[in-house]
Amino acid sequence: MTATQNKELGAVDFELIRQDFPILHQEVNGHALVYLDNAATTQKPKAVIEAIEHYYQLDNSNVHRGAHALSDRATQKFEAARSSVQAFLNAQKREEVIWTRGTTESINLVAQSYARNVLDKGDVVLVSALEHHSNIVPWQIVCEQTGASLKVIPVNGAGEIEIEQYDQLLNDSVKIVSVNHVSNALGTVNPVKTIIDKAHAVGAKVMIDGAQAAPHFEVNVKELDCDFYAFSGHKLFGPTGIGVLYGKENLLEQMTPFQSGGEMIEVVSFEGTTYNKLPYKFEAGTPNIAGAIGLGAAIDYLNQFDRRLLLQYENELLSYSTELALEDSDIQLVGTAKDKTGVMSFLIKGAHPHDVGTLLDQQGVAVRTGHHCAMPIMKQFKVPGTVRASFAFYNNKQDIDRLFSAIKKTKSFLL
Ligand code: ALA
Repeated sequence: MTATQNKELGAVDFELIRQDFPILHQEVNGHALVYLDNAATTQKPKAVIEAIEHYYQLDNSNVHRGAHALSDRATQKFEAARSSVQAFLNAQKREEVIWTRGTTESINLVAQSYARNVLDKGDVVLVSALEHHSNIVPWQIVCEQTGASLKVIPVNGAGEIEIEQYDQLLNDSVKIVSVNHVSNALGTVNPVKTIIDKAHAVGAKVMIDGAQAAPHFEVNVKELDCDFYAFSGHKLFGPTGIGVLYGKENLLEQMTPFQSGGEMIEVVSFEGTTYNKLPYKFEAGTPNIAGAIGLGAAIDYLNQFDRRLLLQYENELLSYSTELALEDSDIQLVGTAKDKTGVMSFLIKGAHPHDVGTLLDQQGVAVRTGHHCAMPIMKQFKVPGTVRASFAFYNNKQDIDRLFSAIKKTKSFLL
């Protein structure tokens, strides 16, 4: 059965939604699975699994190349998925949607194909202290390559970007600002519209890492007016190995290719090569066709819902979980921003996060532990890492009750 709902009526049957995700209905270590590691990767609805299976069973072929029916079908589905992403992001044009392997590759693409060409000695790239390594290291590398410097926008004790300090860092030597929309480590929702507008006022371009935002709420790149936006398919209920870079057309036009080979060319000769038009200029080699089709199916799946209701429900789960954590004096919350979504990062005082994670897993509760690929923010909070419970709309209050009863038992072992 597929979970359906009527957008007009505005009702979502969250218990029925769980039926769409086959993986949830299994036992792990002798207990019914409670999956609370959605910030690492989300589970896939049957519609996505079936779309990928259908592609391999019936349509498998290369795109933009073959003079035969299968290739036509594969190409149509692959490009229809691109149009779905365009609508999903409210991008002006489908040419502004580039397929990548994921957010990490999207950021590397911008660093090497845009930043490397525009940065110079004395220029500045700004990131926040709250970034994932994938939104730090590509900028460190391009700064080394160009002589530009990387500066850090401070974050306060709640895990919020300090906008006044950001104001002080902004001047006309800042050429790029790159921040996440939602922090993977703490769940902070950053005020990206403000960040973008302020960056534009000094002439800087802005890249937004939307990996943890797109799964939770609608993203409107036209309204945000960001220059680049990235997200990953596998965190959006789609497959791994596929992601998206959105870029403004005028910027993508002026950028050099990221990788080279087939598909990204117009004419090749030993005297010189001309490049294909957008978006293909950035899509060298045979793409992840099944991945794109699967991601398109994930977006179609999400489109049946009023996503504001999904967000409201997820935020209720986060509030419920946070209230239970606050009642327990052995729990230390890490990241207490006013605006949060999807993530509760915490420690059990006196216990190592990895030990907590292992004992939770033994009770069927899946969480992530460690630094969450965000070592600088862990260092700021003076913790080796955290235990992170992260939520999706197929979770429910019983999952959170199970988390807390597992925490209780874990404490009896460790404290
Ligand atoms: N970036 C993913 C996470 O936060 C892997 O877990």
